[in-house]
Amino acid sequence: MSKFGTEGEDIIGQWSEEKLDLLAKYLKAYSDIMNKQKESWLKAYYYIDAFAGSVRPKAQNDEQRYIDGSPLRALQTDPKFDAYWFMDLNPQRVERVENLRDEFPDHTIYTCRGDCNNILCDEILPQITYSSNKRAFVFLDPYGLQVDWETVKKIAETQTCDIFVNFSVMGVTRLLPREQNPEPKVIEQLSKVMGNTDWIKQIYQPPKRMQLDFFEDNPSDLISSRETIKAEWLADQYTEQLRSLFKHVSKPVLMRNSTNSALYALCLASHKEIAVKITNDIFKRYEKLKGISG
Ligand SMILES: C[S@@+](CC[C@H](N)C(=O)[O-])C[C@H]1O[C@@H](n2cnc3c(N)ncnc32)[C@H](O)[C@@H]1O
Repeated sequence: MSKFGTEGEDIIGQWSEEKLDLLAKYLKAYSDIMNKQKESWLKAYYYIDAFAGSVRPKAQNDEQRYIDGSPLRALQTDPKFDAYWFMDLNPQRVERVENLRDEFPDHTIYTCRGDCNNILCDEILPQITYSSNKRAFVFLDPYGLQVDWETVKKIAETQTCDIFVNFSVMGVTRLLPREQNPEPKVIEQLSKVMGNTDWIKQIYQPPKRMQLDFFEDNPSDLISSRETIKAEWLADQYTEQLRSLFKHVSKPVLMRNSTNSALYALCLASHKEIAVKITNDIFKRYEKLKGISG
């Protein structure tokens, strides 16, 4: 899906810039609130970017224009976070984030190379326990279906982290065949990402006989087919699942490409009502600007 520039950077569409603007708006609100809490009980609050990316991606329709990616949006947030964790699978991208230490000498930046599911669960979350009086914001922004449901569950269990997830509705839809039931390995893959796959039964019609054959009863003639999957509906399935782990979950906002196809659903899950209220307000304003009725 993603295209790369000459330096291996992502080339991103308008929707990605909008995603980054929504992220920056929420980070500002989160940091304002948390910074005030530091006057009383809060010891520290962190920004965790599990899929840091190429730092300065290029704009799709303007090869000369570079955009500040999520690490820069976070580092530019005022007031600043007590520390920033950036992870990526790609060593070159991790190195680029490391170079940001020169640009932001007053910020505490940690980097990790590897699968963020392991890094989060094994190294980072154990440091942000409820009793530590530390809190964190976790941005989960994969290309596709790389966020394990088990990771989301572990994050929720800490009761200390908000997550901002960019859920790949397109990645899920692409896995589900139109003219037959999904293979067990597909169901397994979706269960790994969404925790529950009961919803799949709802979109497949009962098998129909393809052709009338009076002499043979060949079960391969029996086919299932699925309805078109509405992106809004799929996004709701995911946020419903999130509600089983987090007390408060925002309304998802769909991120669409230039041909209006829904690619991702962005949403926030938190244990704090105020976090979701702020996000819903930010999303509502965005949808109004885009002429989407809520
Ligand atoms: C969509 S890009 C991130 C864009 C970035 N958040 C932004 O908005 O500027 C996804 C990134 O995740 C990295 N990645 C893919 N799978 C990963 C995994 N399992 N753990 C950590 N990083 C991963 C890729 O190398 C890529 O840089």
